[in-house]
Amino acid sequence: MRVAALIVAAGRGERAGGRIPKQYISLLGRPVLSWSVRALAGAGVDEIVVAIAPEHAALAAAALENGPAVRIIHGGAARTASVRAGLAVIERADIILVHDAARPGLSAQIVHSLVATIKSGAAGAAPALPVADALRRADAEGHVIAELDHDGLMRVQTPQAFRAAALQAAYDALPENATFRDDLAVARAHGMECVLVQGDARLMKITYPEDIALIERLLSGSRVTCVGTGIDAHRFGPGDHLTLCGVRIAHDKGLMGHSDADAGWHALVDAILGALGEGDIGAHFPPSDPRWKGADSERFLRHAAKLAADVGARIEHVDVTLICEKPKIGPHREAMRARTAEVLGLPISRVSIKATTTERMGFLGREEGLAAHATATVDRPD
Ligand code: CTP
Ligand code: MG
Repeated sequence: MRVAALIVAAGRGERAGGRIPKQYISLLGRPVLSWSVRALAGAGVDEIVVAIAPEHAALAAAALENGPAVRIIHGGAARTASVRAGLAVIERADIILVHDAARPGLSAQIVHSLVATIKSGAAGAAPALPVADALRRADAEGHVIAELDHDGLMRVQTPQAFRAAALQAAYDALPENATFRDDLAVARAHGMECVLVQGDARLMKITYPEDIALIERLLSGSRVTCVGTGIDAHRFGPGDHLTLCGVRIAHDKGLMGHSDADAGWHALVDAILGALGEGDIGAHFPPSDPRWKGADSERFLRHAAKLAADVGARIEHVDVTLICEKPKIGPHREAMRARTAEVLGLPISRVSIKATTTERMGFLGREEGLAAHATATVDRPD
């Protein structure tokens, strides 16, 4: 049996607010929409169609790049219209799953249980959880006016699965501008027999701003805080400036190195890589590679930040100590914090830059070079 999935992602996410619509925000390092795509593809679904709002085309493309193949179509003004638009392009399917992009916590287990339910004869199936709280009806002022019996009441989630031909027929029979809450309602209005299967708390829908932190917690599994350290040193040589933590400082010497010799950021990159268990800067940007000659270290730092984001890790705090007699770091400290915070996308309060000397002892004391030490505290999936 051929299984197609339609993900409806054409809403505006108004109740959730935020700069970008909820289906495109990053959840543990991946756009919300991509979670469902991966889950459906991982569960072996044969075809995935995603209905988007035309004005979100760029966001959708970014969310879906590097992921499983999907077909993108334009949804409509209401969810029912978006489903209708999706069904119109699904030609060859025996079973269709319709899923809200706003429910990223989909597992293969749910998909398999829905498909099995349709295969065993039901016309429609949806995951659902019992309502645990007592139910009351209240007026607009909050006065309780009735007790409701919550026996048998269920909270219905998505994906909702249907025999393809029956669902197509149910939608074809709808008046042009009909709007329904979900596809189970459309199916039942058409007389299809629908059953509920065991739902999953992780399938909760992102509706309000506070749902985002909640679902992050539900989906993050166990996490661990790791502290990485990094050390770097560069030799002084002829020159009239040096670059430290992304800030150009006029000086009567320069720093020698293959790249821009920003020891502060190099130590910081190593600290982040250390916290991620990702080797060291030399493994990612070999000094033997001509591409990194004179390279701006901002590239290295952005690379480390992206590696962290890609695995759902969060850089919580970074601390860099620059060790040199000269130049004086104090006057540049705030600029260094600001640049580092900007590149890592951190509030400035999570970035510390410090400096010390070695009291004129050793190679640093003799001003043969400059060294840096850094730590990065990273919260990451265990
Ligand atoms: N949806 C859709 N087309 C619409 C409206 C909604 O495809 N015209 C999708 C949403 O993108 C979401 C799902 O239907 O994945 C459930 O809708 P809802 O939670 O209401 O999302 P939004 O409509 O985006 O949010 P809001 O109602 O707060 O604006
Ligand atoms: Mg809506």
